[in-house]
Amino acid sequence: MAIFFDESKKIFKLDTSSTTYAFAVHEGGYMFHLYYGAYLPDNNLLPLLYRGGFCSFHPNYPQYINNEISPDITPSEYSCYGTGDFRLSALQIKNADGNISTDIRYVSHRILKDKPALTGLPSLRSDTGDSETLEVTARDNATGAVVKLYYTVYLNLPVMTRSVIVENTSENAMDLERVFSTCLELPTMDYDMVHLYGQWFKERTVTERPLAHGIQTVASKRGSSSHNHNPFVALKQHGTTEENGSVYGINLIYSGNFSIDIEVDGRNTTRLIAGINPTDFTWHLEPGESFVSPEAVMVYTDKGIGEMSRIFHRTYMKHLIKSPWRDIERPVLINSWEAAYFDFDDDKLVEFAHEAAKMGVDMLVMDDGWFGVRNLDNCSLGDWYVNEKKLKGGLGKLIERVNAEGLKFGIWYEPEMISPDSDLYRAHPDWCLHVPGRDNSPARLQYVLDMSREDVRDNIFNQMYEVLANNKIDYVKWDFNRNLTEVGSALLPANRQKEIMHRFVLGTYDLMNRFVTAFPNILFENCSGGGGRFDAGMLYYSPQIWCSDNTDPIERLTIQFGTSMCYPVSTFGAHVSANSRASIQTRANVAMCGTFGYELDPRKLTDEEKALVREQIKDYRKYSKFVREGDLYRLIAPTDDPFRCAWQFVSPDKKETMVTSVIMRRPETAFYVLRLRGLDPNTLYKDSDTGEVYSGALLMNAGINLTDKVYNDGDSIVKYFTAE
Ligand code: DGJ
Repeated sequence: MAIFFDESKKIFKLDTSSTTYAFAVHEGGYMFHLYYGAYLPDNNLLPLLYRGGFCSFHPNYPQYINNEISPDITPSEYSCYGTGDFRLSALQIKNADGNISTDIRYVSHRILKDKPALTGLPSLRSDTGDSETLEVTARDNATGAVVKLYYTVYLNLPVMTRSVIVENTSENAMDLERVFSTCLELPTMDYDMVHLYGQWFKERTVTERPLAHGIQTVASKRGSSSHNHNPFVALKQHGTTEENGSVYGINLIYSGNFSIDIEVDGRNTTRLIAGINPTDFTWHLEPGESFVSPEAVMVYTDKGIGEMSRIFHRTYMKHLIKSPWRDIERPVLINSWEAAYFDFDDDKLVEFAHEAAKMGVDMLVMDDGWFGVRNLDNCSLGDWYVNEKKLKGGLGKLIERVNAEGLKFGIWYEPEMISPDSDLYRAHPDWCLHVPGRDNSPARLQYVLDMSREDVRDNIFNQMYEVLANNKIDYVKWDFNRNLTEVGSALLPANRQKEIMHRFVLGTYDLMNRFVTAFPNILFENCSGGGGRFDAGMLYYSPQIWCSDNTDPIERLTIQFGTSMCYPVSTFGAHVSANSRASIQTRANVAMCGTFGYELDPRKLTDEEKALVREQIKDYRKYSKFVREGDLYRLIAPTDDPFRCAWQFVSPDKKETMVTSVIMRRPETAFYVLRLRGLDPNTLYKDSDTGEVYSGALLMNAGINLTDKVYNDGDSIVKYFTAE
C-alpha cells in the first residue's frame, strides 16, 4: 500500500518508491501539511506542525483557540484566502454575496486504485497497480464549494501528481478567482530556485538564485506557456549539484497562463503554489457546475538535479506521451522552411526530395506557404486549401511524386490563427479573439482564433480533416506564432470573459485530441515560433516539439540543456541547418541529441557534405535508441564552462554508452579528460574507435582522455563504448 490513513492521529501518509508526503486533518477539519521529502518510516509527524512565536497578529481558527496553531503560521495543505492565512493562497472563491473569504474543511476521503483522468485536460496515466490516488473531499461551508484534492503516488517512481476539482453544490453562483493545482510547504528557505527563462531564439535557459524573503515568481500571461518562462521550477537545497543533494522539481501539465509562486515568510519557511495564473482568470460556477485544475507533477530526489531530470524523463516517456511514435525511431526529415521559406513550388520540393533520398532521408516536410495565396507571412491563415499555382496538379500529385522518390510526406499548419487577409476572416470577422471598440493588435500580421468556440474549432477541424483524410500525409507540424491580446470572445457573457484564457487552452486541447484520435498514425510535431510552447501539456498530444528556431549548434546547446531539465530528449525537434559557422558534423552531433533532421537546401551541399550527411544518418539510426530509451547525464553544462560542453547517454542495461562533447570556444589548454557517469564500475567497456577496453570504474573516476582530439572552436566528438 502506498497511501495510508492513520485513523487515530488523522494523518495521511503517501509513499512513492523513495519519498513520503504527509498531512494531517486537525480539529475542526483543518488540513495541515506535515512533510514532503525522502521516505520516512515514522508516523509520529504531528510535532512538525509547531512553529512557535505566536503573537496577537496571528489570527486563531474560530473553532478553537490554540496559540500553537494559527492559519498565519501553520503549514497549510491547500491555503485559502481571507481567513487568517496571509501567505500565498491556492484557493480564492468569490461568493454570490461578493465576499472573497474562503476556508475549506475535510469531509471525507477515498483511496483509488486507478488514476482518474482529468476531464478536458492532459494528465499522467498509470497502469493498473503502479499508482494509488487519494481523493480528499473538503467543503467551504459559507460558499457551498466542494473542493476535491487529488494526489497520485507512483509505486516505482519518486513522482506524485496533484490536481483539484471545485464543485458548486450551493444554490447560488460563485466565481473562482484562484485555483492552484498544488501547494507545497517546506520548513526552511535554504534552497536555490532553478527555472528556465528565455525569449524567441533563446528558450529555456537555466538560471538559479537563492530563495529570498518575499515572493518570487515565474509566470506567463501570454496565453501560452511561452518562450519567456517555462512552467517548471526546481528547488534544490544549497550545495546540491548535478549528481548529489536534495531537489524538488515541479512541472505543470499545462500550455497556457501559469504561475509558480514561492513565498518565504518571516519564520524562514517556504510555500510554493503552482497552477493557472490568477491574472486574467475568473471562472464562474453556476450551481451544479464544476471546475478542473491542470495537473502538477512533483518529483523529489536526494541524488541531485541530474537524477531529478532522469525521473521526469522516465515519467513522461511512460505515463504522459501517448503517441505510438514515442517508442519508434523517428523518420529523418528534411524541412523546407530554412531551405526555401515561402519560395517553393512542386518542382523545387521534388528536387529537395530527390537529393535528400540519395542521402538516406526518410521524409520531406512542406512547411509554411502551401495554402491560400500565402507567399509571405501576411495572409491566408485559416484558408487551409492548397495553392495550386504553387503546387501545380495539387497536393495529391505532389505527394505521389515525393513518395516516388522514396520519401514520406509531412505538412505544416497553424490551426489556432487567422490572417485578417483571409477568406475565413472576411466571412467570419468575429471568429478571432477581439474586444468590441478596440483595434486588434496584429503580431506577425495575424490574429488569434477564438478557440473557446466550438463552431470555430469545427470549421478548422473540417478543413484540415479534408486535407489529412484525402492525402497520404505521415506528419503534421502544428505551429503557433503569436501570443494572445485583446482576449475577448463574441459568444461569452460579460461575467465569463475572464474564462477565455483557460477556455482557449481547453479548446486547443480539444482540437488536438480530435486530430490525434482521427489520425493515430500521423506523427505530430508541436511548434510555437520555435519552442514557445514546449510544455508537458503539448507532449501529451505530440511526441516531439520543435525546440527553437535557433539552429546554431553552439547556441542550441544552452537551449537543449535547459529543455532537458524536465523534458525527455527524444521530444526535442532538432535539425541540421545551413545557418551556422560550426562544421556540418558538429551541427549533426548536436541535432542527434533530439529528433534528427535537416533544414537546408540539399541541392546546395557539396559532394563531400553529401557523403557526410549519409554517414550522419547512419549514425542517427545507430544512436537514436539512446535518445529514446537511455538515461541522460549532463557532464559539462554550457552555462557552467566557457569552453566545453559534454553529455552522455547510458542504455537502460548499462551495456552501451554514447558520449558527445562540443568545443564552444577554443579552450586555454588542449589537455582534456572527461569523466563519465552512470556506468557499472565492474563492467569492461570497449571504445568502438580504438578497440581499447576500460572498466566502468576507470571511465567514471579517471575519465577518457580527449586531449587534442577535440580542441578548436566548433569541434565536436562522439564516443561510443559497448560492454565486453
Ligand atoms: C515558426 C517555426 O518555428 C518555423 O520552423 C517555421 O515553421 C515558421 N514558423 C513558418 O512560418
